[in-house]
Amino acid sequence: MLPWRSLPGAPTDPYAVWLSEIMLQQTTVAAVVPYYERFLKIYPTVRHLAEAPLDDVLSLWAGLGYYSRARNLHACARQIASLGSFPETVAGLQALPGIGAYTARAIASIAFSVPVVPVDGNVERIVARLFALDAPLPGVRRTLDARAATLNTESTARNAPSEFTQALFDLGAGICTPRRPGCLVCPWQDPCLAHKTGTPERFPVRAVKKPK
Ligand code: ADE
Repeated sequence: MLPWRSLPGAPTDPYAVWLSEIMLQQTTVAAVVPYYERFLKIYPTVRHLAEAPLDDVLSLWAGLGYYSRARNLHACARQIASLGSFPETVAGLQALPGIGAYTARAIASIAFSVPVVPVDGNVERIVARLFALDAPLPGVRRTLDARAATLNTESTARNAPSEFTQALFDLGAGICTPRRPGCLVCPWQDPCLAHKTGTPERFPVRAVKKPK
């Protein structure tokens, strides 16, 4: 199990979820795991991180890349420490340094069970296939976001937004892969329109770049 996951029904630590989501921006799971574990050992709570000197945080981040993330992480920890707790809404989270629309949705759903769907590249692919969206990215992105938002209206998903978001990440990483997707073992094989037409790899469609 990924170290930032909690068992269904068990309490989630918003600090751990936030830290993992910031580290996972632009970085693979395999690269993140050792950094995540080291950070949590040295800074077990957001208050520990807020009180640390920025230079120490930057040295611990060394090798992970995109260092503005570490600066924002530290600034964000200070804001949260002075607020007293993590904001629990998408808007509240998005107002913090380093947290954009995607990360705010990921944290809100995973840590606070807000029924929103974060759309990253993996989720784009899943949704484009489920609905066989023929229009190309990036133009189709608004439609895709709207379709994604409808996914957790089914009762099982609505009751478990945190598990639903994490299951989507797992589906994208392990089954609904860019090449040779595992449609035969996919839990959404039945409703998936791309599977129905036998061409899942065709989705998502991307606009061809015009030559300059
Ligand atoms: N990518 C972004 N967030 C993730 C998460 N919580 N688990 C796995 N992959 C992710």
